Amino acid sequence: MIELVEAGVAVEVPTSGGTARRTLLEPTSLRLSEQRIAIIGANGSGKSTLLRLLNGLVLPTSGRVLVDGLDVRTEGRQVRRRVGFVFTDPQAQLVLATPVDDVELSLRSRITDRVARRAEALRLLNERGLGEIAEQSVYDLSGGERQLVALTSVLATEPAVLLADEPTTLLDLRNRDRVQAILAELSQQVIVVTHDLELASTSDRVLVIDAGGVVADGQPSTAIDAYLKLARP
Ligand SMILES: Nc1ncnc2c1ncn2[C@@H]1O[C@H](COP(=O)(O)OP(=O)(O)O)[C@@H](O)[C@H]1O
Ligand SMILES: [Mg+2]
Repeated sequence: MIELVEAGVAVEVPTSGGTARRTLLEPTSLRLSEQRIAIIGANGSGKSTLLRLLNGLVLPTSGRVLVDGLDVRTEGRQVRRRVGFVFTDPQAQLVLATPVDDVELSLRSRITDRVARRAEALRLLNERGLGEIAEQSVYDLSGGERQLVALTSVLATEPAVLLADEPTTLLDLRNRDRVQAILAELSQQVIVVTHDLELASTSDRVLVIDAGGVVADGQPSTAIDAYLKLARP
């Protein structure tokens, strides 16, 4: 269970005269317990800021964020062990040269034996239909393959919660469907930022963000309606 208690984010931004304080997320209180949650809203509305708060990639400048009672500020390492994060651009998280090396790295805390770890990494990639590209340079992969590898790598850490920030925005239709199918069948709680209203409509709960605040929150149909009214008044 992830809980925001009056959690807000404000930053100092440079201006011609010095600096100004800018609110990225107004103090927000939420209890996020549903299995599938979608976050929607316009570009620049604060969706990524909210999502990044949930595993401590961004720290609240006011209030608190708790993951299973752990404060993201003081227990960030433990929080990130529980909460995995998938970025829009998979290149942001693939740190090693090949898929198998990257997945192996994710398995380090779970499997100490090197041979067993390599075998498990290959098994996980095979399971996703990525066996053939396991040893290829990540730079030579297609965007779709890269995102599937990134997802495999994050899931290899067996997080309790998966956060995904527009994971399908850069993908073609086929890969979008593949990523969505993987997300759909996960036993984990999944919180996804998306512009795909079809995907949002299959969630248990939808949050609509506008100008740094949650402006609608509830059943997909009601929340998506609220978003459409904002976007196309
Ligand atoms: N570290 C930062 N410093 C200053 N401004 C930021 C920072 N991070 C995000 N912003 C700004 O805050 C707003 C919300 O950003 P973001 O959460 O990334 O929006 P979204 O994901 O909805 O597009 C944007 O206008 C962005 O430029
Ligand atoms: Mg964003």
